[in-house]
Amino acid sequence: MPAGVLGTEVAPTLLGFAHVLGWAVYIGGAVLMEVVWRPSQEHIPPAQVNVVCSFMGRRYRWIALVALAVLFLSGVGLLLESGHLSTTSPIFRPPLVLSNSYGRTMLALTILWAFLFGLLLMLGVVAHPALHVRMSTDMSNEERRAARAAVGQAIRRMDVLLRVELAGAGLAAFLGTTLRFGGIL
Ligand code: HEM
Repeated sequence: MPAGVLGTEVAPTLLGFAHVLGWAVYIGGAVLMEVVWRPSQEHIPPAQVNVVCSFMGRRYRWIALVALAVLFLSGVGLLLESGHLSTTSPIFRPPLVLSNSYGRTMLALTILWAFLFGLLLMLGVVAHPALHVRMSTDMSNEERRAARAAVGQAIRRMDVLLRVELAGAGLAAFLGTTLRFGGIL
């Protein structure tokens, strides 16, 4: 009787599961923020947007960062399991070499992953906190106008970053899917 997945392929199955979960959670989160949360902000009073936005932003940042970390770790695990990557020399083994489409696609995917990770750090550490400029009662009209303009600029920057992130996430999923067929680059 065949041993089945859990008899012979436990490690690759768990790594594959972690990888699928990683990209599903990551892309699902990016779609939710861009396609559901951003448009719904226009129908919520500004003061409430501030509260919900800071809570959602904080949560989303950590969920997305963990999902990306899981993607990287499970991806490396899958490469080790398949023997394309080794802990002994040569570290990179065919087809994980630049003369092969699989290797080039994997390199592009890894660079894209690093870009998305950096973008997310920027979203969480710089772009998102800039949305929460405090208005105090002792501010002059001029200072209030400047604070409002700064928030408007931060929202526009956040919008662009979220769109770039969504496009990058989609591209990464496409590149990942082509790996099974030998890569695309
Ligand atoms: C945003 C980042 C990433 C996304 C969206 C992504 C997405 C995907 C998708 C959709 C697949 C095909 C379906 C699957 O097996 O789950 C895949 C496969 C794979 N990914 Fe990723 N991935 C990402 C990052 C990475 C990284 C950083 C690595 C390696 C360090 C990696 C290694 C792999 C491997 C080895 C496979 C299996 C390829 C094969 O069948 O030969 N991925 N990825």
